[in-house]
Amino acid sequence: MSGWTLGIIGGSGLYRLEGLEDVRTERVFTPWGEPSAPLVKARLNGVDLVFLSRHDAGHRIPPGDINYRANIDAMKRAGVTDLLSLSACGSLREELAPGAFVVVDQYVDRTFAREKSFFGPGCVAHVSMARPVCSRLSAMAVAAAKAAGVETVAPRGTYLAMEGPQFSTKAESHLYRSWGMDVIGMTNMPEAKLAREAELPYASVAMVTDYDCWKDDLAEVDITDVLAVLKGNVARAQDLVRAITRAMAAHPRTPSPDGIETVLDTAILTAPD
Ligand code: ADE
Repeated sequence: MSGWTLGIIGGSGLYRLEGLEDVRTERVFTPWGEPSAPLVKARLNGVDLVFLSRHDAGHRIPPGDINYRANIDAMKRAGVTDLLSLSACGSLREELAPGAFVVVDQYVDRTFAREKSFFGPGCVAHVSMARPVCSRLSAMAVAAAKAAGVETVAPRGTYLAMEGPQFSTKAESHLYRSWGMDVIGMTNMPEAKLAREAELPYASVAMVTDYDCWKDDLAEVDITDVLAVLKGNVARAQDLVRAITRAMAAHPRTPSPDGIETVLDTAILTAPD
């Protein structure tokens, strides 16, 4: 037994994983409601894997309506040890052309209409988000993206999470660039925050589909551009998942070097009853 159970949350274009063995599909319910889709439990290269389609098959659920709490809770209850997000994003940097994969290491959360915490009245907790991703899982994602033949793999980058569903204005796109943001997307927040509250090591591969709308020599992003690039990105994402499970199979799991599985030990303020 490798000890890893890899959770994968697949975004736009990534509604199923290929080449899985021992596949079981389970519709689950959580105290927070129903997750985006049934969980697909399977094995790949001898590693246990749980797949969840963030927007559901057929892309039914817009970013602002995703039940992020149910998704993370379902992954936690399914025994996931490490959670990898795969999602489409726009690029705010010249050198991150469509087709580039960015392994995110920081976030700026500009979403404002979503449930963002498992805690609240009755039980107050403040987890640190200073280092929002698991350094080990991120390093494995970088290696796996390279093994999958992705030409440009950025080993770090800051992801601006926007509310959507509309794309940004030019003024916003320029503002985010002036802030030093690298990529922009609509789904990694509050997902990363909730994963941390659930003590789940999280990493995110943001796959560039477009240059958003800051580039004056290019047409502004529209969904046709996104879909055109998405197909190639998704094929390489499937290879990335195969590569990361191969690496996991070769190294028995130890706790996250970042102590993520025990963050709640020092985060809860409410006195026990
Ligand atoms: N997802 C893909 N491209 C995007 C963009 N330009 N802005 C926000 N989310 C995106």
